[in-house]
Amino acid sequence: MKPLIAGNWKMNGLTPALADVETVAEIVSTSLPNADVLICPPATLVHRAVQTAAGRIAIGGQDCRPEPSGAFTGDISAEMLRDAGATAVIVGHSERRQYHGETNALVAAKARAAWRAGLLSIICIGETGDERTRGQHLEVCKDQLAGSVPEGANADNTAIAYEPVWAIGTGKTPTIAEIGAIHAHIRQCLTRLGTARTAIRILYGGSVKPSNAREILATPEVGGALVGGASLTAADFHPIIAAASAK
Ligand code: 13P
Repeated sequence: MKPLIAGNWKMNGLTPALADVETVAEIVSTSLPNADVLICPPATLVHRAVQTAAGRIAIGGQDCRPEPSGAFTGDISAEMLRDAGATAVIVGHSERRQYHGETNALVAAKARAAWRAGLLSIICIGETGDERTRGQHLEVCKDQLAGSVPEGANADNTAIAYEPVWAIGTGKTPTIAEIGAIHAHIRQCLTRLGTARTAIRILYGGSVKPSNAREILATPEVGGALVGGASLTAADFHPIIAAASAK
């Protein structure tokens, strides 16, 4: 499978940011990188981003609620994202786990909702800085995978994003050897969970930049990247897409 380069805009982006969607889409349609490219803007921009992208790149959501509809003020269902033209959704991002108290069970329910609506679910896992210091990162990731990746996950409906919490928005990243080791571990865990899960792409996320993308993406078992800050402008996001296609 091609690497997946996904941008998570988080709570950033007003109407003028659609110009960056247009620039990225245009570059992708002319340079035809060997990568699947996805931008996940805030929900308010999803539909317009889909119109702007016009099929040249994919557009996704950043979260969904498990139920298809109902009395859940302020929430968005996977069906609504699909209706807006999204083809993917991020679930279980560490910021959701931290600020909204999302549990593994809830994240698994969201992943199932994504599949029900025909969306690719990008399931996020990753240890905190304290857990890494205590040497618990392997165990934490194993537990998060076991709890948040539902049965039925396969390479077509799911990607895993390994995002060490301490590397998000900090400019710090694990070493290449550390990224290789944890990705190999995640692959092993997925294989143990069932054969359908063996080919699932494992993305790395956390301070991916144009300057480190090539090395990170060349690491065995790194099947793409989930990019925050550096996905906000086409100027930064494009070199990361180009680095993936050099893989
Ligand atoms: P940064 O790339 O800004 O570190 O964010 C990573 C992230 O959380 C993507 O989901």
